[in-house]
Amino acid sequence: MNHVSTRPARLTDLPRLFYWRNHPDQIQLSSSKQTVSFTDHARWFLSSLSRNYNHIYIIRLHTGSLVTPIGQIRFTKALDHAQIYIISIYLISPFSGQGFGQPAYTHALRNFLNYLFRKGNTDSITLNAVVRSENTRSLRFFAKLGFTRMTQPQSNDFTHLSTTLACSPDE
Ligand SMILES: CC(C)(COP(=O)(O)OP(=O)(O)OC[C@H]1O[C@@H](n2cnc3c(N)ncnc32)[C@H](O)[C@@H]1OP(=O)(O)O)[C@@H](O)C(=O)NCCC(=O)NCCS
Repeated sequence: MNHVSTRPARLTDLPRLFYWRNHPDQIQLSSSKQTVSFTDHARWFLSSLSRNYNHIYIIRLHTGSLVTPIGQIRFTKALDHAQIYIISIYLISPFSGQGFGQPAYTHALRNFLNYLFRKGNTDSITLNAVVRSENTRSLRFFAKLGFTRMTQPQSNDFTHLSTTLACSPDE
C-alpha cells in the first residue's frame, strides 16, 4: 500500500531540486517562466537551509520499502509580515493527479506548524497561494484544502488564495 510523507530538505537535495526546478513542466507553471542557473539555485537553496524564511520539504512516496522523492512543498515567509507564508507545491509529472497532493500538504503542514510552535510561535498563521489562473487543477486543489480566493488579485494571470490556521502542536 502506498503512502506519502514529507521531510525537511537537506544539503544533498540541492541537485535534485535544481533538476526539478529547471524541468520544462515546472518552467511552464513558474511565475517567471525562466530557468535558473546552478549558481543562483545553489545560493538560494543554501540560504533557504538556514530555515529563517524559506521552509522546504521533500515529498516522498513510500511503496513497500521503496521511498521515492516525488516533489516539493515550500513555505516562504512574506517579507513584510511575520505571520504570513507563501505556499508553493509541486509533484513531478508522473505523480500529479493521483491524489498524493492532499496527504503531502497535510503532512508537511503538520511538520511546519510543529516547527513554528517549537520555536515559540503560538499565534495563527496565514498561508497564501499564488496560482496561474489557467492552472485549474491547482485552483481546485487549494479550494479542496479550504483556501479561499482573495478579493483583489494583482493581475488576471494569477489567482491569489488564502487560509488561516491555528499554530498548535500535534495532539
Ligand atoms: C497541485 C498539485 C500539487 C495537486 O496534487 P494532486 O495530487 O494532483 O492533487 P490531489 O491530491 O487533489 O489529487 C486529486 C486528483 O487526483 C485524482 N485521483 C486519482 N486517484 C486518486 C486517489 N486515490 N485519491 C484522490 N484523488 C485521486 C482525482 O481525481 C483528482 O483529480 P481532479 O482534481 O481533477 O478531480 C499537483 O497537481 C501538481 O504538482 N501540479 C503541478 C504544480 C502546480 O500546479 N503547483 C501549484 C502551484 S503552487
